[in-house]
Amino acid sequence: MPPRRALCFAVLLAATACMRPALQPVPTDRPIIIAHRGASGHRPEHTVAAYTLAVEMGADFIEPDLVSTKDGVLVARHENEIGGTTDVASKFPERRTRKVVDGDTMTGWFTEDFTLAELRMLRARERLSFRSHAYDGQFPIPTFDEVLALADSLGRARGRVVGVYPETKHPSYHRAIGLPLEPALLASLRARGLDRRDAPVYIQSFEDGNLRALRGQTRVRLVYLVSERALTPARLRDIATFADGVGVNQRLVVAPDSAAVPSRVIRDAHDAGLKVHVWTLRSEPVFLAARYGGDPVAEVREMVRLGVDGIFGDFPDVVARGLDLAPTRR
Ligand code: G3P
Ligand code: CA
Repeated sequence: MPPRRALCFAVLLAATACMRPALQPVPTDRPIIIAHRGASGHRPEHTVAAYTLAVEMGADFIEPDLVSTKDGVLVARHENEIGGTTDVASKFPERRTRKVVDGDTMTGWFTEDFTLAELRMLRARERLSFRSHAYDGQFPIPTFDEVLALADSLGRARGRVVGVYPETKHPSYHRAIGLPLEPALLASLRARGLDRRDAPVYIQSFEDGNLRALRGQTRVRLVYLVSERALTPARLRDIATFADGVGVNQRLVVAPDSAAVPSRVIRDAHDAGLKVHVWTLRSEPVFLAARYGGDPVAEVREMVRLGVDGIFGDFPDVVARGLDLAPTRR
């Protein structure tokens, strides 16, 4: 771009930014509410409806899990096999196939075998039998770019920042089949000016390999997901060399039986300079530990009391209640 035109463009951008009202930042004086796959306890996961409801319920961040299409577009699905969360079986019965993904042999329908145009034909369905199926068949699969745009518009409509907390799903597998997730992820963030340290974004992964590589490519905050029991102080110090936080299974924070005492993982992680975001709080009896006596808000309150910095929940309304958020904040 010629220098004069570049200068005009920069001035125009700055003027546009000045005209926009400042948004209330994501709070730092309480744990953040991370809407796990959107408000997935209420709507089919990873849909615009689920993300929108989550923000209406007070979520600070919406969480898209990311996989790739055949043509390299990032879409929001919990796994690349989509037989359980879409109507793909009825629309593309002939595409059913068998694959080995991260060592697991799976039979079904895989996003990497479909172009985005084909995936656009599908509609989401609820994966769990005991949750509402009233919304099955209504909502398409969103792309990551659409999730970013949605978070931006939902936040502006409410005068507050709504963050995005993407997870790279099966990153080594995607790289091995020639559809690496990370370049597309970073390109999308850069296109929206979100590749910066103070962006309302966390990138998460269960693999440390891609996080270590990402550490050299972006300043966005990174979170390493762990369900392992051996989270020693030394291990946490190593994680702190490439990540800004750990996403830990709540059973590592406090054991499920009522006699259990909280683990040291939060204190040790904080000592290593890491944030602690706990996953995944869910309200139904099949998920909720007996120690909470059937009250999911009690679980939220316990996590807050123990000092977590963020909470992934399928029910952002329940997490907001546990944090005593004023309805006006939502
Ligand atoms: O991303 C945090 C937590 O959601 C990890 O579990 O399997 O629901 O993505 P998963
Ligand atoms: Ca996730």
